Amino acid sequence: MANKDQTDTDRMEKIVSLCKRKGFIFQSAEIYGGLNGCWDYGSLGAEVKRNLKDLWWRKNVQERDDILGLDGSILTHQAVLTASGHVGGFSDPMCDCLLTKARLRADQIEPQSGIAYHFTGASHEESEWSVDRDYSVLLNQPNQDENKARKTAREFYAQFLTDKQIPAKKLTLLGESTSEEKEVTHYNPENGSLLTEPRDFELMFKTQMGASADDHDPNATAYLRPETAQSIFVQYKNVMDSNRVKLPFGIAQIGKAFRNEINPRNFTFRSREFEQMEIEYFCRPEDGLRLTDEWLEKRLSFYDEIGLQKEKLHVLDIPDGERAHYSQKTYDIEYDFPFGQQELEGVAYRGDYDLGKHKEHSGKPLEYFDEQTKERFIPHVVEPSAGCDRTILALICEAFDEEDLTKEGGKQDIRTVMRFKPAIAPIKAAILPLLKNKPELVEKAREVKNLLQPFMNVFYDETAAIGRRYRRQDEVGTPFCIAIDFETMGLEEGKEDLKDTVTIRHRDSMEQERVAISDLLPWLLERIH
Ligand code: GAP
Repeated sequence: MANKDQTDTDRMEKIVSLCKRKGFIFQSAEIYGGLNGCWDYGSLGAEVKRNLKDLWWRKNVQERDDILGLDGSILTHQAVLTASGHVGGFSDPMCDCLLTKARLRADQIEPQSGIAYHFTGASHEESEWSVDRDYSVLLNQPNQDENKARKTAREFYAQFLTDKQIPAKKLTLLGESTSEEKEVTHYNPENGSLLTEPRDFELMFKTQMGASADDHDPNATAYLRPETAQSIFVQYKNVMDSNRVKLPFGIAQIGKAFRNEINPRNFTFRSREFEQMEIEYFCRPEDGLRLTDEWLEKRLSFYDEIGLQKEKLHVLDIPDGERAHYSQKTYDIEYDFPFGQQELEGVAYRGDYDLGKHKEHSGKPLEYFDEQTKERFIPHVVEPSAGCDRTILALICEAFDEEDLTKEGGKQDIRTVMRFKPAIAPIKAAILPLLKNKPELVEKAREVKNLLQPFMNVFYDETAAIGRRYRRQDEVGTPFCIAIDFETMGLEEGKEDLKDTVTIRHRDSMEQERVAISDLLPWLLERIH
């Protein structure tokens, strides 16, 4: 994608619709109107999520000697988040539209230029009603009808009418004046209405612990963690002492995090409840910058391995002044989503900031003792922090394809196919008896299913014509369809040698080949990992 902000709304709508129709992702509490910013993964989505997390865990924990796993609690002691700077510091600037009450992230409003129409109030002569209140509307397009600004202003003032029967258009606007505005951010880009002044909005979800907790008892306050990282820092000494590890070593965690985002949007991209896959890699100070670069490369090859195209991944070296104050280096890995180029993961060199803060606030010694050099110091940390849900969204967007198979002069034939890598695909193989009314085919197909089921997620389907069943599997990304036909039973004249073989149909090429049932399991295992 050449342009960072290039979007494809049509493609995104198709993806969201397929996710619901096929059972990848549903809106949380949909039958009650939906819980904004929360999502439920359906049967196929849950499989994709499990596959991704298992792969990440295998690569980053099980296949490495220097990284250990952790599964920390979600409820977090307020002292932990006070030390980390989240309490009182983890907020976004927020403002409200004075007309619609829509809440916007003040720092995400694109600067606009145009003519602002200012008013000091409005009145309704017949009922002798009036209101004194300053209000403005920005018209940000050239030659826009100025009456649009007046119409918006009347709708704003109509909110204060005591007699709701009076239509907004009957109001007289007071004290109109205009000004030329350049690159301003205090008008709603959607409707031109003035916004409130930005104010800080706390992003953490707070709760009270314990049955007898008094609602106002500050000691009973706990938080749903806003990142998985903090429990890693707080447990770093326990993990180190219980495993007798030496620097450099890492602690990895996959788990839920919660942020009361002002504007959850772009499907699951910005959610209020989401999962992170984080590593805190502890090292000597002099190795920090080098390891940050090494981790960036490792993370990029992980994305390559799971099937995200290199050309769609972009690395942003965050400049001085835009990084968190404690970070000497931060790379953002961004992906070309259909709604624009957006962050997938951050790889940050956090120095000794976090351990230093926890040492200071807890009063506990969190230094590392180097047996060889006899030095005692606070290790530095490199943090590759990935979003699990964002990666799944990227995988779904990457996989979605519509292939035009229309034959010349024929009816339009578009094949929807999810081109997941087999390791990510929710169903690895579909087992399809050619006909459901032939008991011998059905029995053989069930035998094949039973053979494979202990080793992978398979799906048995005997309804509809085989072609339609292939297409259904294409739509959910099943890489291999296994057809049990008359050749399998040795019932096809002249093809007796095909007895006990099956047809394997490849999702991407749609090519078919025959494989002996006795070879089927190793054949599949080789291709699905
Ligand atoms: N411990 C560092 C940390 O939490 P972050 O950049 O705030 O850094 C890391 O979050 C990753 O978590 C992001 O790159 C993104 O993939 C994911 N993430 C953050 N906020 C999210 C949200 N509201 N919804 C979904 N994923 C989110």
